[in-house]
Amino acid sequence: MAEERSGPVFIAVGGGKGGVGKSFVTASLALSLAQGGSRSGARVVAVDLDLGGSNLNLLLGEPHPERELADFIDGRVASLSEILQPTRLPNLRYAAGSFDMVTALDPLRDRKLDLIRGLVGLDANYVLLDLQAGATPVTLDFFFLGDVKLVVTNPESTAFHNAYGFLKNYVLRRLLTELRDHREALHFVLEYYRGTGDEPVPDRTITALIASLRENFPDLEAEVDGILEYDAPLLVLNRVRDREERQYLDRFRAVVEQNLALRCPELGTIPEDRRVGRATREGTPFVLAHPRHPIARRFTEWAARLSRAGR
Ligand SMILES: Nc1ncnc2c1ncn2[C@@H]1O[C@H](COP(=O)(O)OP(=O)(O)O)[C@@H](O)[C@H]1O
Ligand SMILES: [Mg+2]
Repeated sequence: MAEERSGPVFIAVGGGKGGVGKSFVTASLALSLAQGGSRSGARVVAVDLDLGGSNLNLLLGEPHPERELADFIDGRVASLSEILQPTRLPNLRYAAGSFDMVTALDPLRDRKLDLIRGLVGLDANYVLLDLQAGATPVTLDFFFLGDVKLVVTNPESTAFHNAYGFLKNYVLRRLLTELRDHREALHFVLEYYRGTGDEPVPDRTITALIASLRENFPDLEAEVDGILEYDAPLLVLNRVRDREERQYLDRFRAVVEQNLALRCPELGTIPEDRRVGRATREGTPFVLAHPRHPIARRFTEWAARLSRAGR
């Protein structure tokens, strides 16, 4: 029986590297969900969590508003809903990031719990989280909020590299959480990666770490098995130019499965198209400017798929 739950369905969009299209995917999915498909009338909120580099408003074709996340983080408004801005679609609102926030002070970390409470309390069917590049603990914690988790990458090796790092840190952070009541095992994991022993670390893959954990802590079988049952993020390969590039994703998935013990399904691929940048420059979201374009159709299809999976 499906579990009844209140609060919005979260879709978190991460990926490790900047410029791969996380904000484009977030904006396009948010627009497609708000436009309906199988669940017309869904109320959607898109949240720009890329403090310091925020640009989600541009991809939604909206100007930078007066109220932004900084107003909530700095306590100028009490509730997250006060900073939500309307868009050209009646049931899509968004929370702008903060373009010139002093991120060196790590403001998201200090207000993380308040922000999570605010997000969970939003009056919406779907909340999309556009994450910043990197795999810091705070970024990962927002990623964990996702009922649906997307990792966006490009076919470039640098992008795959960062997506791999993101996924590895995702698993590691979960592992550390799982083992939080087992001090010795926790210590073992930390030492494993710090490599402070006499021997160099022979194999830094999660698969090898899990094998060592099994060997050294046979009592923790249930916990270790639990680690292997984590939900694996869905992969999106963006800016694909040809068939060969599309195949890179299969290779990447194989490496992730082998090294990180994570079987990530693919959500799909998005072709490279100059009109994406052009639409943004002209101030209209791509999927609204070109609703019959294969990219727009793909987002419609994904929105329908994810709305079935989300509830
Ligand atoms: N499929 C695509 N084809 C062409 N340009 C794209 C595509 N996807 C994204 N872009 C462009 O790449 C740039 C970076 O995208 P963005 O979503 O801001 O990346 P991120 O949020 O990961 O940093 C944007 O200017 C966007 O217009
Ligand atoms: Mg972005």
